[in-house]
Amino acid sequence: SSTASPSHRSASASDSNAPKQPFVIGVSGGTASGKTTVCDMIIQQLHDHRVVLVNQDSFYRGLTAEESKRVHEYNFDHPGFVNFDIIKSQPTAVSALSRHLVKSPINSCKALLSWKVNASDVIILEGILVFHDQRVRNLMNMKIFVDTDADVRLARRIRRDTVERGRDINSVLEQYAKFVKPAFDDFVLPSKKYADVIIPRGGDNHVAIDLIVQHIHTKLGQHDLCKIYPNVHVIQSTFQV
Ligand code: ADP
Ligand code: C5P
Repeated sequence: SSTASPSHRSASASDSNAPKQPFVIGVSGGTASGKTTVCDMIIQQLHDHRVVLVNQDSFYRGLTAEESKRVHEYNFDHPGFVNFDIIKSQPTAVSALSRHLVKSPINSCKALLSWKVNASDVIILEGILVFHDQRVRNLMNMKIFVDTDADVRLARRIRRDTVERGRDINSVLEQYAKFVKPAFDDFVLPSKKYADVIIPRGGDNHVAIDLIVQHIHTKLGQHDLCKIYPNVHVIQSTFQV
C-alpha cells in the first residue's frame, strides 16, 4: 500500500533479480492470543529458510535498577514503553532492524553477533503493538493479526503468568484490568485494520497457517533460494525484566 514498503518479488531459478530484502512478516494480536504459537508453526514449515523471530520485548525501553523494583507499576502494554526509534531513524529500515538485533544489549544471544541480514531470510516481528507505528508497519511485507476471544486470552494469561512466571493471581488480574485491557481496546484492536490476514483461533487454525506459508514460499521463490541454509536459524528474545 505504501511506497515505503520493501519491494519483494517472487524469484525463480532463472530470475537474476532475486529479492534484495528479507521478507518481513508482522504478527500482532492481543496478549495470549497465540502469536508465538502461530510464529512457531510458520517457522517449522519454513524449514528451508533462515527465519529470525524478533519479539517486541526487544524494543522495550530499559528500566533502571530502581524502576525494576517497582515493575508492577509500569505499563508494558502502552506504546510509550516501546521504543521503535531505532527503526524510524535509519535510512534503510530493514538493515536497521538487523543492526538493532546485532547490537541490542537486551539480546544476549551470542549468535546475533555474526548475524547479517540476507535477501533470502525471513524476519518475523511479533508483538501486541507492532502495527502501532506506521514506519514499522511499512517494513512489513505481510501483516497477520491473531484473533482470539478475550475470555480465552485472559484464561491463558492467568495460567501463563501464575504457572510459568510465578506471579500472584491478584497482581495478574490487577495488571490486566489496569493496563492490559485498556491498551488492547485503545491500541491493539484498532491496529487490526492494518492486517492483511486475520487468523481466528490462532494456532488451532491449520488451514490459515498453511495458506500463509504457501504465500511466503511463493514470494521467496520455491526453487532456487535458501537451500544454502539447511538449518532454520531462530533467534528469540527473552523477557527483559
Ligand atoms: P502470545 O504470543 O500471543 O502471547 P502464545 O502463543 O504464547 O500467545 O500463547 C499464550 C498461552 O496460551 C501459552 O501458554 C500457550 O501455551 C497457550 N496457547 C496458545 N495457543 C493455544 C491453543 N490453541 N490452545 C491451548 N492453549 C494455547
Ligand atoms: O506474549 P504477550 O503478547 O502476551 O506479551 C505482551 C504482554 O506482556 C503485555 O500484555 C504485557 O503486559 C506483558 N509484559 C509483562 N511484563 C513485562 C513485559 C511485558 O507482563 N516485563
